[in-house]
Amino acid sequence: MNSTPDLTVVVPTYQEAENLPELVTRLFAAVSSAQVATELIIVDDNSGDATVEICEELSRTFPLRLITRTDERGLATAVMRGLEEACGRYIVVMDADLSHPPMSVPALMAPLESGAADFVIGSRYVHGGSVAEDWSLWRFVNSKVATFLAVGLTTAKDPMAGFFAIRRSSLVDLSTLNPCGYKIGLELMVRCGCKTVVEVPIHFADRKHGESKLNLREQWLYIQHLTRLYAFRYPDVLRFAKFAAVGVSGLVVDLMTFRASLPGLGLAAARALGIGTAMTWNYEWNRRVTFAGTGEQRSVGSYLRFCTACLSGAVLSWTTSLGLMNVVDAFQQRPVAAALVGTCVAAVVNYALCRIWVFSERSQETVESTLPEAIVAESAILPFEAPVQPDDQVVLPARKAA
Ligand code: GDD
Ligand code: MN
Repeated sequence: MNSTPDLTVVVPTYQEAENLPELVTRLFAAVSSAQVATELIIVDDNSGDATVEICEELSRTFPLRLITRTDERGLATAVMRGLEEACGRYIVVMDADLSHPPMSVPALMAPLESGAADFVIGSRYVHGGSVAEDWSLWRFVNSKVATFLAVGLTTAKDPMAGFFAIRRSSLVDLSTLNPCGYKIGLELMVRCGCKTVVEVPIHFADRKHGESKLNLREQWLYIQHLTRLYAFRYPDVLRFAKFAAVGVSGLVVDLMTFRASLPGLGLAAARALGIGTAMTWNYEWNRRVTFAGTGEQRSVGSYLRFCTACLSGAVLSWTTSLGLMNVVDAFQQRPVAAALVGTCVAAVVNYALCRIWVFSERSQETVESTLPEAIVAESAILPFEAPVQPDDQVVLPARKAA
């Protein structure tokens, strides 16, 4: 093998010592018969079993590196650590417990090599794939529900798989990834903008030794993770939902202010106060929450732009509802429905104005460029200058294969 391997296989482990000899032997048997120069990186979270000794022994025969993490625990971050250390042009990630057939590793790499795919999944749910017969109903339902919840992110049949392949060149700056729990594959697929996903059928076997670390906490983490990925893929949907929620809260503020001030101020002034208070309330919450990412500062200018946007919305709502009642037969007897349509149209237009004109992304650049130079420089360097912890890892020497 020349100094850069074609393939890096990353295996996260926690208390998998018993599985390692068979995994490593079968993996290297598979890649050598396919003539793929391979390095193996095992990322272990200080399991406290015989992992270190077994890896030391195996590294005499196979090009294997063990990284022991002592500062962090978790599957996703362990995989990320492996990705950082990988040298191969292609990367395969798999479990240590032999659930994922090592024999299929070359097949996962092939579509990347031929250019047929940007991301390859070792899939249980395509034709020819299967899961161990004694999979519990609970585990099956769980896996299916989890897959269904991700439909808006990928059409892959088995996006939850921990057995996948990606080109190293596709990896985005790993410090921008934010996976939690188990679904690092899904994270990479979405964040690295992988367009073509190919699924290679595999049989997912039950583990022989040890037990699964998948538990209820993981399901909760998964929901959080999904929310983030959806927000990344469809930023406006989430933002619009926040905008609508702020709008509803503004309505409450309006009515409460109106009611409280009516006796003292009289109808006209109390109504004006209600509307004005709600508009100010909405401005502030939209600035702080809905469009927080733009870094827009509180200013008279943006406040007036916001009021103008609201006013345009109000005029539009008024004309739409009156127009519908006058022109469309179905709405003639349904003024509330017409008003509702008017409100929805206004909300969308109002949102668009806020997004493009009131709290535009442009303002982020302005904020950064007004920061003192030293701070800008430091934050630019930070992701690449993560402190090195010398005693955080035991890296066994990689042996060159014959
Ligand atoms: N370093 C590290 N740290 N490794 C871990 C940790 C951890 O905290 N937790 C689990 N692992 C390793 C295990 O040692 C194993 O190699 C692999 O991650 C998968 O863990 P399992 O506990 O065997 O997971 P599973 O069988 O329940 O889940 C598998 O199937 C799921 C789909 O049903 C995994 O492949 C998941 O990624 C997959 O989503
Ligand atoms: Mn497993």
